[in-house]
Amino acid sequence: MLQCVVTGANTGLGLSTVIHLARKGHSVVLCARSESKGEEAKKKVLEETGCESTLVTVVQLDLADQENIAGFRDRYKEKLGELKPIDRLILNAGIMMTPYGQTKQGLESQLGVMVVGHYRLTCALIDLVLQATAAGGKNHGRARIVTVSSLAHKRAKDIPHLDEEERKKHYSSVNAYFESKLGNMLMMEKLNRIFKEKNVLEDKVFCVNCHPGISSSDLANHFSSVSFLKTWTPSFADWLTSKLTMTCEQGSLPTVMATLDEKAEPGMYAGPGGHEKERYGDPKWDCYVNPVVYDEALQDRLYEKCVKDTGGIELSTLISS
Ligand SMILES: NC(=O)c1ccc[n+]([C@@H]2O[C@H](COP(=O)([O-])OP(=O)(O)OC[C@H]3O[C@@H](n4cnc5c(N)ncnc54)[C@H](OP(=O)(O)O)[C@@H]3O)[C@@H](O)[C@H]2O)c1
Repeated sequence: MLQCVVTGANTGLGLSTVIHLARKGHSVVLCARSESKGEEAKKKVLEETGCESTLVTVVQLDLADQENIAGFRDRYKEKLGELKPIDRLILNAGIMMTPYGQTKQGLESQLGVMVVGHYRLTCALIDLVLQATAAGGKNHGRARIVTVSSLAHKRAKDIPHLDEEERKKHYSSVNAYFESKLGNMLMMEKLNRIFKEKNVLEDKVFCVNCHPGISSSDLANHFSSVSFLKTWTPSFADWLTSKLTMTCEQGSLPTVMATLDEKAEPGMYAGPGGHEKERYGDPKWDCYVNPVVYDEALQDRLYEKCVKDTGGIELSTLISS
């Protein structure tokens, strides 16, 4: 049984991921920024899977607040009764193309939540990830950090280098999403490089990426056209959604593959393998990666930005060689 932590797990792809993992008998920490939404989601998991209540634990987490992220360890310990080693850390939470907003520490929200927030969480939990103890073959026993990126990462060429004031002036909600999803991929490559330098990549931990194609979730709800359609003509909206998207149950299968497949190796990227340029279908490995992801100077720049934006927390110094 693996000990898994899934962020953004009260709805959408995160919730479906929890359901798949619990159905397979794994122990899952369901992270939700609202405790009550998390408990509602846990009820759904228990109804759907019939699993024991103790298999799913709700722990509150707001990735838009670094103090809250820093407190996650204590809440995790309180809920589980101990600081359990983590076999799979699944970085799924996200927001998409939102109007300009800031995290509690004043960072633009999309990059702040999906990249910097997840980086901060990884730093807070890395010692527990390195203690992973799952039994099984080499790759089952080695811990994994799984990031949910997106087809959208292909649309970005760079990450933001402007300071926050300038970013606000030049903000594009669409580009900020593309850059954040590229950021997810860049960070995984950078972490694998750090793990290699620290001699923990081969036997202790590695990172993989995945994307869910196009899946029906709450992600696009804030778009006025989507919410208008849902209010004005809900049955047409449902019909259209069913034609254009996969269900979250199916869309989360690449995440499940990235989490559990024995064949996983550092940097591999899972996504839907069907027709239409990886938008739909059953999961496969070796999805298309934007070559920019392998630019080490860009990976380093993002890492340095995350270190700066978290007040100097350096993941590499948290791992002893
Ligand atoms: N759906 C797709 O077609 C698609 C395509 C490509 C990539 N993705 C990626 O898949 C991931 C999951 O998205 P989804 O489609 O399942 O969207 P979703 O249904 O909107 O779920 C997003 C989850 O992230 C949580 N979240 C948002 N801001 C947070 C914060 N500050 N702190 C903690 N949790 C936060 C949400 O919590 P609340 O419920 O409290 O808001 C929710 O649980 C995202 O990373 C997204 O970029 C999705």
